[in-house]
Amino acid sequence: MSPFHLYLSLLLLLHLFFHIPTSYTEPLRFECNNTHDGKPVTNYTLNSTFHTNLKLLLPSLSSNAALNRGFYNTSIGQDPNKVYGLVLCRGDATPDICRNCTNFASDGILSRCQSRSSVIWYDYCQLQYSDTNFFLSSTTPWWFWAWSMYNVTDPEPFKRALGNLMTDLANRAAYEPWRGMFATGERNYSASNKVYGLVQCKPVISGDACHKCLEDAISKLPECCDWKIGGRVIGEVCNLRFEVTNFFGETLVGGPAPSPAPTVAL
Ligand SMILES: *[C@@H]1O[C@H](CO)[C@@H](O)[C@H](O)[C@H]1NC(C)=O
Ligand SMILES: *[C@@H]1O[C@H](CO)[C@@H](O)[C@H](O)[C@H]1NC(C)=O
Ligand SMILES: *[C@@H]1O[C@H](CO)[C@@H](O)[C@H](O)[C@H]1NC(C)=O
Ligand SMILES: *[C@@H]1O[C@H](CO)[C@@H](O)[C@H](O)[C@H]1NC(C)=O
Ligand SMILES: *[C@@H]1O[C@H](CO)[C@@H](O)[C@H](O)[C@H]1NC(C)=O
Ligand SMILES: *[C@@H]1O[C@H](CO)[C@@H](O)[C@H](O)[C@H]1NC(C)=O
Ligand SMILES: *[C@@H]1O[C@H](CO)[C@@H](O)[C@H](O)[C@H]1NC(C)=O
Repeated sequence: MSPFHLYLSLLLLLHLFFHIPTSYTEPLRFECNNTHDGKPVTNYTLNSTFHTNLKLLLPSLSSNAALNRGFYNTSIGQDPNKVYGLVLCRGDATPDICRNCTNFASDGILSRCQSRSSVIWYDYCQLQYSDTNFFLSSTTPWWFWAWSMYNVTDPEPFKRALGNLMTDLANRAAYEPWRGMFATGERNYSASNKVYGLVQCKPVISGDACHKCLEDAISKLPECCDWKIGGRVIGEVCNLRFEVTNFFGETLVGGPAPSPAPTVAL
């Protein structure tokens, strides 16, 4: 673990009792990367070329992602003021939801961070920018998770069904290219109850890297959400979610968002 990651982990532990906002306009989490190797990182200056490039980049991410199945990455400017940016909307977000979410994310990251690399997560999208090219990176420096307050009544069949579902979804997302590295599905865990799942990878990485990332995410389920009726594991490169009600393509208002829950990082 690098000192930067160690620092983040400590920082995130302090956030242990912060709650996931239920409003979709509030970020689930953001990381400004204000320190590196224990030292403060130089912020960009307001109205500098870097800042101007960033402000040009963000709207193009929003509008293009909405037209491009919820994913877009691009860069703008020349070194040393070049900015790389990427957005990933949840695979079941409509273009409207994707555009709205990424617009919130653009404003959100500009108002919260002044560093040269940052990432922000919302319910329906994540946005990341950096002064270095991170597009093909397939490891996740940050993980966090959220879980429902409610327990399942019959954990053994539930966990079997959930494990089975997630393994299947990871294979589909990673190795069925037409899915755009996104898969949803469901499994019965009793005669009348189902568990619904969703997995997603950043669609520029390889199938193997996607599969590996999802395996890592799945391996966090016992720590994250054991016995729970819903949960999410979210990383920079991939994420997963499960619920006992169908949440795919839910509308923004009144959807069964998981209950407010603390978040934890590795
Ligand atoms: C954080 O910033 C430092 C210094 O600019 C950079 O080397 C490092 O890659 C950044 N980390 C992340 C996760 O973006
Ligand atoms: C940056 O530019 C904006 C608009 O041009 C201006 O309102 C603001 O005062 C400037 N800020 C700084 C720190 O120069
Ligand atoms: C997005 O990232 C991929 C992988 O690095 C790269 O090949 C592609 O050119 C990028 N797209 C844009 C519009 O820059
Ligand atoms: C997008 O945001 C606008 C303004 O906040 C709102 O009126 C509209 O209903 C939103 N659309 C969707 C699909 O959420
Ligand atoms: C960089 O900006 C953040 C706010 O985004 C601030 O908290 C931090 O102190 C600044 N760091 C430096 C070295 O100025
Ligand atoms: C859920 O289960 C955990 C561990 O068994 C227990 O501590 C907790 O009180 C339960 N919560 C509810 C709402 O039943
Ligand atoms: C799942 O449950 C439904 C009824 O709730 C039933 O119709 C279906 O056959 C079950 N599927 C499997 C694979 O058991």
